[in-house]
Amino acid sequence: MTTEQIVFPEGVPESRPIWWRNTKYKSDTGIENQSKVSMDDLNGAVKSWMRFNDVLAELFSDISIGNGAQSELIHLNCSEFPSGCVLVKADHKIKTTGSIKGRGGVYEVLSYAEDILQSHGVGCRADPMALLSSEARNIFERYRIVVGSTGNLAFSVGMVGRKLGFRVEVHMSRDAKAWKKVRLRSAGVNVVEHDNDYSHAVAAARAVASSDAFTYFIDDENSVKLLVGYSAAALEISNQLEETGIRISHDNPLFVYLPCGVGGAPGGITLGLKNIFGSNVHCIFVEPVASPSMLVQLASGSVRPVNVYACGLSNETIADGLAVAQASMLVAEVVGHQIAGVATVLDDDLSEWVERMWTLAGLRLEPSGAAGFAAFARHGSVIRHSFDSSRASTNIIWTTGGSFFPDLEWASAREHGQRVLSSRPNSGG
Ligand SMILES: Cc1ncc(COP(=O)(O)O)c(C=O)c1O
Repeated sequence: MTTEQIVFPEGVPESRPIWWRNTKYKSDTGIENQSKVSMDDLNGAVKSWMRFNDVLAELFSDISIGNGAQSELIHLNCSEFPSGCVLVKADHKIKTTGSIKGRGGVYEVLSYAEDILQSHGVGCRADPMALLSSEARNIFERYRIVVGSTGNLAFSVGMVGRKLGFRVEVHMSRDAKAWKKVRLRSAGVNVVEHDNDYSHAVAAARAVASSDAFTYFIDDENSVKLLVGYSAAALEISNQLEETGIRISHDNPLFVYLPCGVGGAPGGITLGLKNIFGSNVHCIFVEPVASPSMLVQLASGSVRPVNVYACGLSNETIADGLAVAQASMLVAEVVGHQIAGVATVLDDDLSEWVERMWTLAGLRLEPSGAAGFAAFARHGSVIRHSFDSSRASTNIIWTTGGSFFPDLEWASAREHGQRVLSSRPNSGG
């Protein structure tokens, strides 16, 4: 199929915000046989996270809030929303890295660190604190970790990698925010800037890593380790729902709104959630109208990569974390049939919800991190109706980044949000 033959869903080439229900959605399927990700991978990730959360508590002992790479599930009672009560999975407050990318990125760095120590004959699986010993540090200093990113994956990998003693090099796309580069550099990370898009930055990082045996590449587009690192969040949610007495069932399905860039974070979480809740959970990916990479990939039905430029879109958005033109083919292949659909939002929606969620609930979100709210407000009723409107439902909005936003950037994002709000006074809800 050539890109000329692909018919994109109405509204997508025109940059209109839409809800696209995935025509290949199989609500009740788990991991397929022959999949590149297995049940053992998912179960192994849960076990590894038990060790890693202890390591992170020690590594980030200067920050008292939170628990490793876990986050709170917050109940919001808010008249702004049609359904009244929504739950917020507050990854914007993850203490190690302030974003959802800390789950996968931190998981892969710590897994790599364990592998390296094992290969040097240092046992660390029975005693995870061995990762923090001076012997381990001396070994890690010989190795380099390389990653390409729009910002938050680099931030997560950079911070944890440096704290363990690795050399870290990050390749940043032109969308990456200046403050993230400044913070990475001050942590001793080598930041390479590219005046090009995310896929280019990832390719540049891949090329650098391929020529050096002491360099490890974290591949945001193709890494199974990243995917399973994210997937363990599903068990966290399941435990949190149980603690609060919410039972997910056929009569109370769960809708989860997940901001999507390349697709790794929402894809891994979808794998985990489907494994636990099966047909009673529907995962909605949320993308900016200029960068609906997962939408165009899935809607094309092609097994070859199809990017947003092919339907005339610019991939220019204020949501730096979601500014991805080409979705992960690994996620499209492994998780594609488990994604309920994709909702797209305007940049102005993101600004509006950055401001609204601060004034309504004190949540400090970056534009990418507010995308779930923007989608829920704009498309939530239609989405519920497109499944079964007669039943009750539980809605989780995943807030994916923002608590590390510096004050100046934050003030300017809020100002923009206020301008949008005053130009559309009856919006939201
Ligand atoms: C704040 C934020 N939310 C969501 C995402 C999406 O994650 P992914 O690119 O794995 O789809 C990103 C990616 O960097 C992000 O920075």
